[in-house]
Amino acid sequence: MADPSGSCFVEDILIQDGIVQKTGLFTPPKNVLKINAGGLVCLPGLVDMHVHLREPGQTHKEDMVSGSRAAAAGGVTALLAMPNTIPPCDSPEAVRFVTRRGASLPVRVYQAAAASKGLAGEQLNDFSVLKAAGAIAVSDDGRPLPDAGIMKQALIHAKAAGLPFLSHCEDFSLSRGGLVNEGEISRILNVPGFGNDGEAVCVARDVAVAECNSLPVHICHVSTAESVNIIRSAKARGVSVTCETAPHYFTLTEDLLLSRDADYRMNPPLRTRRDMKAVLAAITDGTIDALATDHAPHSPAEKADFFSAPNGVIGLETLLAVSYTRLVKPGHITLWRLAELTSQAPSKILRLPFAGIKPGAPADFCLFDPDWEFTVEPEKSRSKSRNTPFKGMTFFGKVKYTICRGKVVFDSEHKF
Ligand code: DOR
Ligand code: ZN
Ligand code: ZN
Repeated sequence: MADPSGSCFVEDILIQDGIVQKTGLFTPPKNVLKINAGGLVCLPGLVDMHVHLREPGQTHKEDMVSGSRAAAAGGVTALLAMPNTIPPCDSPEAVRFVTRRGASLPVRVYQAAAASKGLAGEQLNDFSVLKAAGAIAVSDDGRPLPDAGIMKQALIHAKAAGLPFLSHCEDFSLSRGGLVNEGEISRILNVPGFGNDGEAVCVARDVAVAECNSLPVHICHVSTAESVNIIRSAKARGVSVTCETAPHYFTLTEDLLLSRDADYRMNPPLRTRRDMKAVLAAITDGTIDALATDHAPHSPAEKADFFSAPNGVIGLETLLAVSYTRLVKPGHITLWRLAELTSQAPSKILRLPFAGIKPGAPADFCLFDPDWEFTVEPEKSRSKSRNTPFKGMTFFGKVKYTICRGKVVFDSEHKF
């Protein structure tokens, strides 16, 4: 079946020199490597706009090689690395360190630079200089810019530099280091909670700053019904706001925390069924633009103690299967919308070229088996870390091959 817009999946694809030469039904030339894709679905390579690679500084959790291999295993051909490394990526030298390494990695690795010096949220970096060094976005992810005035300056400078600003929305006076969602579960566990208000108040602030000053803003990892409502109505008024959510927010809920297993802890936390449904509805109606993982590796030792473990879950290898199983299989969205959410929209937000699967386009795509059901086994992950909240769950949509720059960078039968 061919996609009416020519951007999703096609019959045969001929690749040469990293570029799609021909699509349709044809007899392949001799002397080419053939992949039998019968029964598989071909999607544009996934673009994960929210990944923590931990290099430099915490390479026991992940590094650029292990992270990009995990990406390839998940059908992800391009990713954006967040700047909360140690030290933070807040200088041109730090950005160049990543961009120099990029060419030798199996997938395309882009870098977001820190918005503020040392991610301290006080003094802004020079965004134009960071862009010239190769950064394609700015963000203090892991933290918000706590001051609305600094946020306004950040959006002004980001627009002037031509970089998207990616906002981690959290009002510290409300979230107060909460370990789980505030409510029944935080009461049962007797731990501090991070309620919906801690996220929504900051989303409302950022949307207001964007609206009043006609500036674009991108909201990271939307997890609450209220955030979704604020963004939906802002979009209806023409505010230049985009947003992403992660597979765990439309698949899992806070009751998993009763297990006292830190692999279910991330920031923002898993919410209620009502929030999960609101996020799902926002994906369906277009309020949510993109799906991103917030892949945040932490070692088993760090995740061992529920109360002191750092926030974060891995997700590169499960992005496609969880999204396919939760969104496409039950009919909430079409495969074409999945391609938009995972590839076209993030490319547009990050101002990366997107051409889909058609002659002249870079050969970046993934081939997956929609009927292959598999169980998530953390120990088989290509990531250095094991902290997946989907462990033991079954999903459809196993990635069989990932092709990036015209090369097979993942083949489920032969390890790459
Ligand atoms: O869960 C999270 N982990 N949320 C963030 O904002 C930061 C991230 C990390 O770096 O571990
Ligand atoms: Zn964040
Ligand atoms: Zn993050």
